[in-house]
Amino acid sequence: MSSTQIIRGLLLATALLSDAAAQNTTASLANLNTWWHSTGEINTLTPVQDGNVRQSHLYAVQVALASTPSDYYDSFAYETIPRNGNGQICIPGDLQSICTGTDDQISIEPAVGITMAWTQFLYRSDVIVRISRRNGQAISASDVVIRPSNLNFKIQTYDGAALITIPYNSNGVRVSIEFEDDLWTYRNAGQGENSYYVQDVDPSGPNYVSSYTNDMPVVGVEPRNALLIFASPFPTSDLIPNDPGNTLEVTTGRVTGLNTTTKSIVSFGPGVYYFTGTDHAILSSSVEWVYFAPGAYVKGAVQYASGATSLKATGFGVLSGEQYVYQANVAQGYQNVKSDADSLHMWRGDNNTDGQTWTVHGVTLNAPPFNSMDFYGPVDTFSVYASDYKQVGAFFGQTDGMEMYPGSHVHDIFYHAGDDVIKTYYSNILAERITVWKTNNAPIIQFGWYQRNLTNITVDSVDVIHCRYSSQSSEYPRALIGSAASYVDPTSTSDASVYAFISDYTVSNWRAEGLSPALIGVNPLSNIDTFLVKNIWIEELGPDTTQIDMSSFTVFTDSTSGNAAVQLGASSPNNLGLIIQNFTVGSTLISFAANNWDSYSLGRLNIDGAYQGRWTVG
Ligand SMILES: *[C@@H]1O[C@H](CO)[C@@H](O)[C@H](O)[C@H]1NC(C)=O
Ligand SMILES: *[C@@H]1O[C@H](CO)[C@@H](O)[C@H](O)[C@H]1NC(C)=O
Ligand SMILES: *[C@@H]1O[C@H](CO)[C@@H](O)[C@H](O)[C@H]1NC(C)=O
Ligand SMILES: *[C@@H]1O[C@H](CO)[C@@H](O)[C@H](O)[C@H]1NC(C)=O
Ligand SMILES: *[C@@H]1O[C@H](CO)[C@@H](O)[C@H](O)[C@H]1NC(C)=O
Ligand SMILES: *[C@@H]1O[C@H](CO)[C@@H](O)[C@H](O)[C@H]1NC(C)=O
Repeated sequence: MSSTQIIRGLLLATALLSDAAAQNTTASLANLNTWWHSTGEINTLTPVQDGNVRQSHLYAVQVALASTPSDYYDSFAYETIPRNGNGQICIPGDLQSICTGTDDQISIEPAVGITMAWTQFLYRSDVIVRISRRNGQAISASDVVIRPSNLNFKIQTYDGAALITIPYNSNGVRVSIEFEDDLWTYRNAGQGENSYYVQDVDPSGPNYVSSYTNDMPVVGVEPRNALLIFASPFPTSDLIPNDPGNTLEVTTGRVTGLNTTTKSIVSFGPGVYYFTGTDHAILSSSVEWVYFAPGAYVKGAVQYASGATSLKATGFGVLSGEQYVYQANVAQGYQNVKSDADSLHMWRGDNNTDGQTWTVHGVTLNAPPFNSMDFYGPVDTFSVYASDYKQVGAFFGQTDGMEMYPGSHVHDIFYHAGDDVIKTYYSNILAERITVWKTNNAPIIQFGWYQRNLTNITVDSVDVIHCRYSSQSSEYPRALIGSAASYVDPTSTSDASVYAFISDYTVSNWRAEGLSPALIGVNPLSNIDTFLVKNIWIEELGPDTTQIDMSSFTVFTDSTSGNAAVQLGASSPNNLGLIIQNFTVGSTLISFAANNWDSYSLGRLNIDGAYQGRWTVG
């Protein structure tokens, strides 16, 4: 950490601590519910105290019903920062245990002062959200951008604050409020496929350059201090436990004993809870439901052991991984040692998942240290019902979205994610209304890594509000829709299976704002049929010097069957395996007819010549 950072942090801390606790008039109305934390800690540099909640150093947020626009109520603005102020440490709690040998995929972010704030409230009618900056810097309306950018919410300013009208929406609203006077432009060190970000503000920070050159392409533009607004409908009664006899009301502070309770419900009321960086919520096998009340802030991770048919996690509280190191390995003292099985998932289940469902609703997940969720067991008969779910602070690299097991319905989601976001590894999945803020690694949809039999998958209505990729990869393509090469042997192009089939897969109604990666990057490990990609808008493809803009669809061969190639369209009507319809880059429709699709043209669709006649765009 540089001396500039320390000074900036101290100034902020002293200037702002005094008013942090004062503004706390919250709403508990029929149409509006906001909440507050009395232990807010403004601190952009170091871990916060166990009993504290990191509070936005920059934003104060208040909410009024649009029908009574002068009655504003405080809504706590949370904050999350890269590495949670821990530095690049390997041993939990030991701020000296810097392990630079493990790339956590965070580089310049702490040095340039990247932060992400959010607030969450419940509403039943239109509201006005008032946002002011604690440093006194006035907001001008022309500087405010709301993403997704097609919502047309009313923006006004008054007395230096932004007033944004958020209409009631029964699916909730998840938006990023951005200020043109506080953006960070990510640039690569140089041209070519494998680069890294540079910065020009902190000479003692990583990858510093005194000035940028034309050889340093811009690969992303993001708020330096993000602010997300999560407005949710009040939950229905089935999402709030009402069975006191079977409920363990957890006591605030250091949590123990969840592994021995005989209750079926674990309930976190308003307040702050923590497990430390070397423990998590290992639930006893009686626990089927974990509830996070509005105003609950739980520093931990949840592991179910119940084989009950219906598992749940509901409520508008926060589950935060901020006390863990990257890839915290539970089997090795929660130290940073990557293991797909033992690194800590924020959500995990281990009992017999046969016939089980997991319902997750309302929760905000902060700062995952690894893949956010995996259940273990016979997951072929395990379904996920996720809605009004938010993931924030996923600055580390290996921070995927959730698994969607067969029969899952995942909708109304906000994902800040470092790795594979929309993971379609199973059949009969509907994923819809997903807002994505993508950092450095992996594609947005992922269906590769292994040979798979997949059918009946729909991913509809996705808004990609940010993407920043410093590198492209031929084995692990960065793209809106991707399929990585074999997990077992990534450099091999002969690990496909001509006996595996993907079909009836639809990707529809996507908007990708700002700089976007390629439309598709597919190393097919299975035959593909009836793959429909329609109504896709990319505002602008990433710079061509980085290859991030280049779609790929490569012939892979099967080593076990005389190197036969996997087929595209062999079992599709008219042998058209991949149909791309109504795909626009900027304002130009990409089509065969316009001859603007190939790797030298605007569409950048570099599809293996062997598949000619097996796909179409127009
Ligand atoms: C609100 O602020 C007052 C004064 O700072 C404090 O006494 C009170 O505990 C706060 N209430 C909450 C809910 O934070
Ligand atoms: C419950 O967890 C505690 C540590 O928090 C441990 O000491 C104890 O052995 C565990 N009990 C069971 C039954 O697993
Ligand atoms: C699996 O869950 C059931 C309750 O649903 C419980 O009786 C059993 O002990 C659990 N098994 C394990 C290994 O935790
Ligand atoms: C396709 O998947 C959806 C979502 O899980 C499901 O509702 C539907 O029944 C499935 N269709 C078939 C034919 O299985
Ligand atoms: C896919 O299903 C076929 C049967 O249709 C089976 O032979 C093959 O082993 C399966 N492949 C995978 C990877 O599940
Ligand atoms: C084409 O896709 C755009 C989104 O990119 C959508 O707004 C438009 O309605 C689509 N057109 C048709 C005819 O479906």
